[in-house]
This record gives sequence, structure tokens and C-alpha cells, in this order.
Amino acid sequence: MKGVILAGGLATRLRPLTLVTNKHLLPIYHQPMIYYPLMAMKKAGIREVLLTTSGDHAGHFANLLKAGEAFGLRLYYAIQQNPKGGIADAIALAEEFAHHEPVLVLLGDNIFHHDLAPSVRKFEQKGRGAMVFGVHKDTGSRQYGVIEVDGSGTVRSIEEKPEHPKSDIAQTGIYIYDERVFSFIKKLSPSGRGELEVTDLNNFYLSTGELTCEIIDWWVDAGTSFDELLEANNQVARMVQDGKL
Ligand code: G1P
Repeated sequence: MKGVILAGGLATRLRPLTLVTNKHLLPIYHQPMIYYPLMAMKKAGIREVLLTTSGDHAGHFANLLKAGEAFGLRLYYAIQQNPKGGIADAIALAEEFAHHEPVLVLLGDNIFHHDLAPSVRKFEQKGRGAMVFGVHKDTGSRQYGVIEVDGSGTVRSIEEKPEHPKSDIAQTGIYIYDERVFSFIKKLSPSGRGELEVTDLNNFYLSTGELTCEIIDWWVDAGTSFDELLEANNQVARMVQDGKL
């Protein structure tokens, strides 16, 4: 399996912190934000990772991360021309890189501690479909995709920022896709906010009956607001102090 980390976007909600650099380079306690998804990839057993970002910031990442040696990864870079294209548009940049292998996709501002290795193994045994990762959270804020799961763990529905959420399971920015992901993305149309939505992509897999959901413990979407950035810093500080990180 290959890894893809999405680290583009304009991060207008975090200005002025993001006026001269990319939000994924902001600190989360003692390390730049981008270190966390890189460490999660390594822990998951992934060896080759593609980082997608804007042309403006690619040099900042290359200066910091080089070819990934410090993380025990082989790191590649891709430029996202349209920072407002959406998550699925950025995933599409990985088609050649993936080379018919499945991909583990991480949003670069998602901070979590969960070990993805067992899920990666589970997916590889099956070799087909897609996996989303959910977290129990207040889904009434219209900030997240919401995953409805039945008693047996099968995904019933995923809705993007619904007004009336059908569950308390928020969709995180962690996804695993088989090689068909790139052909599914080509069938997507931009949503109301003009983006190729990851939720629409996941609904393709849902319609084929091949979408499963794994629940993880704590997770913070650190790039969404100053409060979530602070929450991620505090969570990580506590874990470092408790010797868990
Ligand atoms: C995106 C997804 C959403 C998901 C969230 C997690 O939202 O569309 O389903 O819950 O990431 O971070 P966005 O941050 O693009 O609004």
C-alpha cells in the first residue's frame, strides 16, 4: 500500500498564522503538524508517501522533510494547482504514484494516536473496496461528514455536514481505497462549494457495498480553527508528558 498526505489548501481560517506559510507547518506542541501524519504512515507500515501541496509551499516542505529519511519513509511531492479543488481532486494527483496499489490517504492536519497497521492489514487481506475511519463526536456542528453504521458495523450512509445527523460518528480525514479510486474520482462533479468531495467518493464505494468503517479513539482536525489547533497542542502536550508519545 502507498501513502498519500494532503497538505494543500489556503487555510484562510487560520490567518494571520498562515499568511506566509502552510498550516501543516505550524507547531503542534513540539513538532510541526506535518510530522504527525508522517509518523502515522510509518507506524502503519507504509514506506512510500506522496505529499500533495501548493506550488507556493512545496519548497517549505522540501526544506523541512527532504526525501523523508528522518521518518524512515521515501517521500515524493505533487503540486495541487487548484487549492480549492477539494480532497478528491488532490487524491487524483496520486494516480501514477499509486501504480495500481491501494492507498492510505491522510489529511495532513488530522492529529490522532490510533495505530492504523491492523486496519491496513485487514484491508490488504480483502484487497478491495474502501475503508473510512470514524470517531464519536458532536456531529451537530455541521463541520464533518457523518457516518451511519448498523449493528454489524456495515456503513449505511455518509452525509456531508448534514443538518440532521443520523449518528454521532464523524468522518475523519483517514481513508483507504483500492485502485479503482482514480476512476471513481473521474466520475465526480463539484459540490455546492465547488469541490470534489471525499464524501461523494466514499458514497461510490458505499453503492457497491464495499465500504467499511473503523472507529478510532481521539482525533482532532487541527487545521479547522484556532480552538482546534489549541486542542491538538494540549492533547499532544498531555501525551508527551504522560510518556505516550
Ligand atoms: C472534510 C470532509 C468531511 C470530514 C472532514 C474531516 O471536510 O469533507 O467529511 O469530516 O474533512 O476533517 P472539510 O475539512 O473539507 O470541510
